[in-house]
Amino acid sequence: MKTETAILDESNIDPAVIERAGNIIKKGGLVAFPTETVYGLGGDALNPQSSAKIYAAKGRPSDNPLIVHISGMEALDPIVTKIPDNARKLADAYWPGPLTMIFNKKPIVPRETTGGLDTVAVRMPSSRIARALIDAAGGYIAAPSANLSGRPSPTSASYVIEDMDGRIDMILDGGDSEVGLESTIVDFTGEYPVILRPGYITAEMISSVLEMEVGIDPALKKDDPSFRPKAPGMKYRHYAPKGELVIVTGPSDKVVSHINELVAADRENGLSTGVMASKETAELYRADSVKALGSKGRAEETAHSLFRALREFDDEKTERIYSESFDETGVGAAIMNRLIKAAGHHVIQL
Ligand code: TXA
Ligand code: MG
Repeated sequence: MKTETAILDESNIDPAVIERAGNIIKKGGLVAFPTETVYGLGGDALNPQSSAKIYAAKGRPSDNPLIVHISGMEALDPIVTKIPDNARKLADAYWPGPLTMIFNKKPIVPRETTGGLDTVAVRMPSSRIARALIDAAGGYIAAPSANLSGRPSPTSASYVIEDMDGRIDMILDGGDSEVGLESTIVDFTGEYPVILRPGYITAEMISSVLEMEVGIDPALKKDDPSFRPKAPGMKYRHYAPKGELVIVTGPSDKVVSHINELVAADRENGLSTGVMASKETAELYRADSVKALGSKGRAEETAHSLFRALREFDDEKTERIYSESFDETGVGAAIMNRLIKAAGHHVIQL
């Protein structure tokens, strides 16, 4: 299959391109598109064959459900059995935006889209390109992140091309993703709301709108495989770079000297080395490739650059990668959740 790429300007979207892309989705084809979190791989959410194609293009296990993207609140009622008051409050506060909510589904949503579940994940993105595409495609786009299964989610069109060229019909290039991490997922199908995946919309932000403490899926807190995450996708090994990634945590001066010792030993063994660090400490490292992800205290900078850094290490063929750990408050919880997965839970505590 030949994959067409079209560049779009978010502030001046070419309607002819959007119409062409929308028609591809309406006819059962696949279009990758930008959102404010990461790029999505879109197909018609109400067409079971489109969902089957998405799983095939990603190489993704088909028990891992897709998120249905909508552009307006009126699109929610036709696909879910009930909208709890708390979900309405969160929608008022954070939609459109990097928040996904899980509801019980109506039969119109095929099981192929929900990985066999009776529940459906729904998100209203804020990206203007994404919203224009959703409208042009008939209102419901199923979209996982547009990476091959297991790789870091793509935060620019060039990474989508790397993974998806020849596998899908079209890629809309809308520049760099603003947030850089996937949406926060909140489950509304139980007795009380529970976060299944941390993201840019933090537990504190959700609790303050709901005026109650939001739950957190215990599988997120425990490094224990007997806790089965409720979001099926959270159980898979994810984001892993090709090189071996190890997180080193402890007092900053000790972390710097320990990583530099590990780097020196790797170098003696002829291995190429990389480090992910804060902007403040990056210059202290002696590795072949040092990436400053963001300033301490500005977690959104680190969130924005984490997946890009992981992909760059692959491009540079880095064999051993060491990462500082990052503050877990606010968006930091989402950063550490992705980083620990990428490292396959390999953490050295000093
Ligand atoms: O920011 C995002 O959410 C991006 C952009 C493209 O919107 N999408 C994204 O999709 O990250 P994906 O497929 O890579 O991750 C979706 C996650 C998976 O962990 C999946 O298991 C979970 O959402 N999920 C989807 N539907 C679910 C459901 N009904 N119940 C529980 N978890 C669900
Ligand atoms: Mg994904």
